[in-house]
Amino acid sequence: MTCSIAPGKIILFGEHFVVKGAPAIGFAVSKYAKVCVEDGYFQVISKQTGNIEQGSVLYRAVKRLITYANSIFKCDEDVRILVDSEIPVGSGMGSSAALSVALAHAYLTHCNASFDKKLVNELAYEAEKEVHSKPSGIDNTLATFGGFLKYRSGVFEKLDIRLGDEVGFLVVNTNLKRQTGIIVEEVLRLYEKYREVLENVYTAASVLVEKALKSLRERDYESIGRLMLLNHGLLWTIGVSHEINDLIVHKLVGKGCYGAKLSGAGRGGIVIGFVNKSLSTRIEEELRSEGFEVFRVNPDYEGVRSVEDN
Ligand code: PMV
Repeated sequence: MTCSIAPGKIILFGEHFVVKGAPAIGFAVSKYAKVCVEDGYFQVISKQTGNIEQGSVLYRAVKRLITYANSIFKCDEDVRILVDSEIPVGSGMGSSAALSVALAHAYLTHCNASFDKKLVNELAYEAEKEVHSKPSGIDNTLATFGGFLKYRSGVFEKLDIRLGDEVGFLVVNTNLKRQTGIIVEEVLRLYEKYREVLENVYTAASVLVEKALKSLRERDYESIGRLMLLNHGLLWTIGVSHEINDLIVHKLVGKGCYGAKLSGAGRGGIVIGFVNKSLSTRIEEELRSEGFEVFRVNPDYEGVRSVEDN
């Protein structure tokens, strides 16, 4: 059996504003999707949900990826595919992309194909088209290459950022599900209606991302945290926060995080806190005892890779 893992992702700065051409920063995180491939009749089995039915989105995405791979290589299509993911679904952490990337990597490895990560990314993007109507490509790119990425108007730039081991992130999942497309449309309508006001907010968001890049490179943790809060405020201004997002941001900061913000589409989803690891266990335990679903993540700098089956 041939297995690969690929990381999920988090948007650190610039979501929503990126839709109108502002820059954004995302990074890969230490929560993984694992896919194993072995010879057998074609079947997709999820450790979480069991046999994946023909016609489901996941099944179609897997088929599309394998068909695309076979337009380049002559691989055996009779394979049994086992998927296992620890990335929360529908929370903006790139669960589907991580799965596609892990699948592309495991499938090509199983087939002894000569490939590079660029091809893995291309195959995964093809599968993502089955899941999202217009994928930006950020999720699969981060799952493939790992690390931090700046993106703007469809252009991705891998960043030479490496945070110290003394800091990490707390992720609080509100479990409020929402549809990204609907929120994005609403934001665009708001922008059109209040363009003269909001143009300045969008400019502020662009400047904020450039300043955040500098703070990340310099490992200026206080500044990164402050900019996360400013970014949350801008997202609130364009109407994508929710009282639960605001409450969690206040809790994370009140308990000692450098900063916190909603991440992704908003109106629920996840909130992230940037934290010194000396505090993370205490904050995590306190939030859990208050009934929140919370977990810790670190940046993943490696991206997709082979793993032993176990
Ligand atoms: O919820 P996510 O992580 O897929 O983030 C959506 C990010 C938006 O900026 C709101 C939309 C987009 O396509 O960039």
